Amino acid sequence: MQIIRDIAALRHAISAMRQGGKTIALVPTMGALHEGHMSLVKKAKTLADHVVVSIFVNPTQFGPNEDFDAYPRDEQKDGAMLAEAAVSILWAPDVSVMYPPGHVTHVEVAELGADFCGAARPGHFDGVATVVSKLLNQVRPDIAIFGEKDWQQLAIIRQFVRDLDFPVDIIGAPIARAADGLALSSRNAYLTPQQRSDAVHLSEALNRAAQAIAAGENVASVLAKAEQAIIAGGFDSVDYLALTNKDTLARLDQYSGPARLLAAARMGKTRLLDNLAVG
Ligand code: PAJ
Repeated sequence: MQIIRDIAALRHAISAMRQGGKTIALVPTMGALHEGHMSLVKKAKTLADHVVVSIFVNPTQFGPNEDFDAYPRDEQKDGAMLAEAAVSILWAPDVSVMYPPGHVTHVEVAELGADFCGAARPGHFDGVATVVSKLLNQVRPDIAIFGEKDWQQLAIIRQFVRDLDFPVDIIGAPIARAADGLALSSRNAYLTPQQRSDAVHLSEALNRAAQAIAAGENVASVLAKAEQAIIAGGFDSVDYLALTNKDTLARLDQYSGPARLLAAARMGKTRLLDNLAVG
């Protein structure tokens, strides 16, 4: 596995890899890799000849009072996991390579980015859309793989790739979960042992709510009950818990066919996301 940190070297390595018509899959990450990330790498390997994984903790998607500095970073461990998985290139640019002085352009996905995580984290999705656009232009992959764990992020990426005619297929991959059901996340590392065992109440509440909604129960009262269960389970607050159209993310107050439950809840300083298909 080559570890590359500058754009000229990346372009050179990518054109060498493309010889003979070989295909390339990109898996963008912010590092602190876990089995969720590695499930995307495994999927990428089945879909392309070469896999490029990027690790870049993107400052523009963190708000001023968020955890950019504290975000877990362990490039040595990440590198070993990726080498073991036979990844071809680890693309690990520095902030000064990604955003050289004078960088002013950004990509904004208006409506899809306004609600849910976008409401709680103003500017977050502009940062995501901008950096993912840049990663797609830097690597120019045939396909790029993103987790359904970040459902709103995946919808936004699909939207700007369509709107801006990026020549890439965006592939979604299912949520990898711990044995108790908690969605794997780099931020789970922030949880104390007690918080970690309480955190299961988020996925449990979503599961119960999805079943009740699919069985025809009143959406508003199911969501209110689920929110109470999340708080009773040890979370401090629920940022949002909503039934949505799975593509447009419009909020639904009635269930009439395939939909997605989206949730974010806070425990201490940690904010956890989860989502689930309904029907
Ligand atoms: P990060 O949180 O590191 O996640 C990288 C990718 O792994 C995303 O596509 C995310 O949805 C996926 N992922 C994380 N946990 C997962 C799980 N439990 N199951 C399946 N997939 C999972 O998301 C980002 O980084 C950044 O916003 C990024 C897209 C890299 C742009 O900076």
